Amino acid sequence: MKLQLNIVGNLLAGMLVIAALTGCIRDEQSPGYEYMPDMYRSPAVEAYVDYAEVRDTIRPELHTVMSARKPVVGTVPMTDNAIDDMPYTLPNTTAGYEKAGEVLKTPFTETEEFIAEGQEIYNNFCLHCHGETGAGDGLVITNGGHPAPQAYDGPLKNLPEGKMFHTLTYGKGAMGSHASQLTKTERWKVIAYVKTLQGNGEPVAAEVEETEMAETAE
Ligand code: HEC
Repeated sequence: MKLQLNIVGNLLAGMLVIAALTGCIRDEQSPGYEYMPDMYRSPAVEAYVDYAEVRDTIRPELHTVMSARKPVVGTVPMTDNAIDDMPYTLPNTTAGYEKAGEVLKTPFTETEEFIAEGQEIYNNFCLHCHGETGAGDGLVITNGGHPAPQAYDGPLKNLPEGKMFHTLTYGKGAMGSHASQLTKTERWKVIAYVKTLQGNGEPVAAEVEETEMAETAE
């Protein structure tokens, strides 16, 4: 009988200890006593967690862990714009330039709006050298003595768009690279406008004016 009481007593005491350890938690967010911390806390280091801030008392060695590291060489940044994300793979060589002329085409449909946006970029980034009509007579050339570019509707009349993209990306001769100023999308926009200045086919700027005039006349 005494033995049985002892067993019951021990069981009760054991349950009390367990209840004390697990049940009576004042802070609802607290997981209570962690008797196997690895079950709660992943041993893997999480990305972008500042472990110096976490002050993990269970695994204090984490305080010095460096979690955010530099991306490996060759990492391609991803945004929601696939065209801007794709790396430009043709090399900055004469062969690369020639290849661009043969194979590289705009991935965009050149709507009037697209070309108008290109014109805006042209006015901000190109006009001061290439001039309003692309004759190569911008103020930097006429007043500044900078070497003059050739006219778009002259010697550059049949310059393919792929070569333009290559030149905008890497620069050519006295013209610097515009890769850091213009995204790939913006480069294709301004190229769409430059093509209208080459004067092959209907100049789109004139078309826009005509439509506007037609609308006013109505
Ligand atoms: C600082 C003056 C300057 C600015 C700004 C400039 N260019 Fe040029 N550009 C030149 C010169 C000079 C050349 C001739 C380069 C050569 O062939 O040696 C040239 C050449 C070009 C060519 C012919 C490239 C080829 O493959 O032969 C294109 C197309 C062109 N520029 C477009 C642009 C566009 C578009 C912009 C604006 C985003 C721009 N340029 C801004 C001076 C400039």
